[in-house]
Amino acid sequence: CTRPVQLSYYFIIFHLQISDDSPGYNEAIVLLFFLQISDDSPGYSKEMFCIPRHYEEDLKRVLIPAGFISDRIERLARDIVRDFEQEGIVALCVLKGGYKFFTDLVEKIQQLNSNLGKSVPLAVDFIRLKSYVDDTSSGEIEVVGGDNLENLKGKNVLVVEDIIDTGRTMQKLLGILNNIHPKSIKVVSLLVKRTKRSIGYRPDYTGFEIPDIFIVGYALDYNEYFRDLNHLCEINETGMKKYASKS
Ligand code: HPA
Ligand code: MG
Repeated sequence: CTRPVQLSYYFIIFHLQISDDSPGYNEAIVLLFFLQISDDSPGYSKEMFCIPRHYEEDLKRVLIPAGFISDRIERLARDIVRDFEQEGIVALCVLKGGYKFFTDLVEKIQQLNSNLGKSVPLAVDFIRLKSYVDDTSSGEIEVVGGDNLENLKGKNVLVVEDIIDTGRTMQKLLGILNNIHPKSIKVVSLLVKRTKRSIGYRPDYTGFEIPDIFIVGYALDYNEYFRDLNHLCEINETGMKKYASKS
């Protein structure tokens, strides 16, 4: 009588199931202008994807595989090119978590610039903020690196961020940037967390809206670990303990 259990385990290990009630990504969802990963989305088993061996026991599941991230960024790039056509923008990378998203987004915009009739002159700049220790925000943000922000005066600035959680970090960053008097400021965030702690801030462009869980990978870190993981994954207890801050 242990057989059926073994059989279903076998299936889980060896292929990815798209369930009968999977909505796919239909028009209704697209009309929201971001993709929602629902609270009861099971994500994907780690066994289905290539995970660095050194992180195998530290992750609960894959939430968004790297290929899916890439496809979504392609569309964000298209929306941005459409909105800024001929205008020119300075893409401002919020380090460190935003570096992979930034690189991939800039590359997709360049591809569109080369291949479409329309094109957007693109400059890049960097700012480094720090606010997280373990999985909680310290509440304060610090600008700890980057160029002279005065260069942004009079420019169309596109802030490129990895994740909006409570929205406080972005609120503070926008305060800092507004003092420099850019021509305009827009924000693109790969992820927005659906959380009760949100102050209600919404970026102009969003890749995915995700459940209120701590995720790592694709340059998002937990105390500087997991940036070297391609997929967006949920960290587990083992990972949290192993890489907890020493201080
Ligand atoms: N993961 C990594 N960094 C973060 C997160 C998260 O879930 N939320 C805010 N910063
Ligand atoms: Mg960030």
